[in-house]
Amino acid sequence: MADPTGVPEEAETPLPVEAERLLHAAGAPPRLLAHARLVCGTAARLLDLLERRRPGLGADRGAVLFGAAVHDIGKTVHPAELTAPGHLHERAGEELLTGLGVPAHLARFCRTHGDWDRDGVPLEDLLVALADKVWKGARVEALETRVVRTAAAAHALPAWEVFAELDDVLSELASGAEERIAYQTRHPAAR
Ligand SMILES: [Fe+2]
Repeated sequence: MADPTGVPEEAETPLPVEAERLLHAAGAPPRLLAHARLVCGTAARLLDLLERRRPGLGADRGAVLFGAAVHDIGKTVHPAELTAPGHLHERAGEELLTGLGVPAHLARFCRTHGDWDRDGVPLEDLLVALADKVWKGARVEALETRVVRTAAAAHALPAWEVFAELDDVLSELASGAEERIAYQTRHPAAR
């Protein structure tokens, strides 16, 4: 049984400094900051676990952690999407970050975490989308297949080998979901 008052280890991983500055500048409420910490911490664990099993398989760590931290910043523009499903925050977040001077290759994570199923989405963006699912224990087969194909092609590895390793890593990450969900939910959605 998860401790409903516990702080999951993912939430203790510090956000990238620039991402934290941008979230505060955008007026992110506590729940959005909690979500940013959880997804960023999950992305960091995902990268660590992948790197341990397959050194050199990693993506651009700085970009993944930044993207994981800011991917939902557009919910400051569309706050209803903090508590209900919706996609308006995706492009709004990209535009918000671009307006704050963030380069396009980093601002795009706001959009690509929602439309990762387009052709040519880079591994970094797929990993952000994956962290945004597995933090809450969700497993999305189509997304995982895409991560496997992209990573296997980039490193000339057999897809079955990458699949087996990713599956182990995601099972390990998904196991702490209850505590993470409780942590996020107890942070208010309004400022
Ligand atoms: Fe998210």
